[in-house]
Amino acid sequence: MIIQSVLVILGIFVFYQLILRLARRYWKFPAPSFIGKFLDSKQRKVMQPPEKIISRSGIDKGMTVLEIGCGSGAFTTDVARAIGNKGILSALDIEIKMLKQVASKLNRIENKDIKNVKLVQASAYTLPFSKESFDIVYMVAVFQEIPNKEKALKEINRVLKNNGILSISEFIVDPDYPLKSTTIKMVQRTGFNLNIVSGNFFNYTITFGKNKV
Ligand SMILES: C[S@@+](CC[C@H](N)C(=O)[O-])C[C@H]1O[C@@H](n2cnc3c(N)ncnc32)[C@H](O)[C@@H]1O
Repeated sequence: MIIQSVLVILGIFVFYQLILRLARRYWKFPAPSFIGKFLDSKQRKVMQPPEKIISRSGIDKGMTVLEIGCGSGAFTTDVARAIGNKGILSALDIEIKMLKQVASKLNRIENKDIKNVKLVQASAYTLPFSKESFDIVYMVAVFQEIPNKEKALKEINRVLKNNGILSISEFIVDPDYPLKSTTIKMVQRTGFNLNIVSGNFFNYTITFGKNKV
């Protein structure tokens, strides 16, 4: 009985992945805001714990950080606390409905201590910041959603400080999930240096160092 149940769950997962992956190959669009609840759910955090994203990305106290594609804010509050009051987190998304979900999360009583987050509606192609503004730019389950990756990477390169870090995290449940090698190839092509690869096949983070392009 247990084996049958596991096989059924596995079958549903594989079917879901095949259909969605096929659709996403030809049809690129930002994740719809109704998935915000899933993205910020407890179950998701078991699969992709915020503290792991923070430590693997090298996010630390006092840093100036940009989160591209913050979605409903699954990582925003934890990162804001990790950088502390002397740090600043710009949480950016192209979708206003996602940003509204982050705003209402920040308004909850338990998050009233957080005062260092700026919400920004913009595209990764035109980041509304001056050059060399950030210590770290991070993206979780976002990079593959951006059709013109080279354009976005050039913008990221511009806004990163000279010793800045780009951190890209992916997890297998995302229908856009790419292999580590795919992510590394794409990012290196635009002139970033590979720093650290951490995590596993299902859930990984890769950091890159800024290089002049
Ligand atoms: C799958 S969601 C992930 C959200 C969040 N990072 C998380 O892991 O919960 C991808 C997010 O990237 C945003 N996004 C997609 N393309 C974008 C772009 N070109 N510029 C900025 N944000 C973008 C979407 O609106 C969406 O909120």
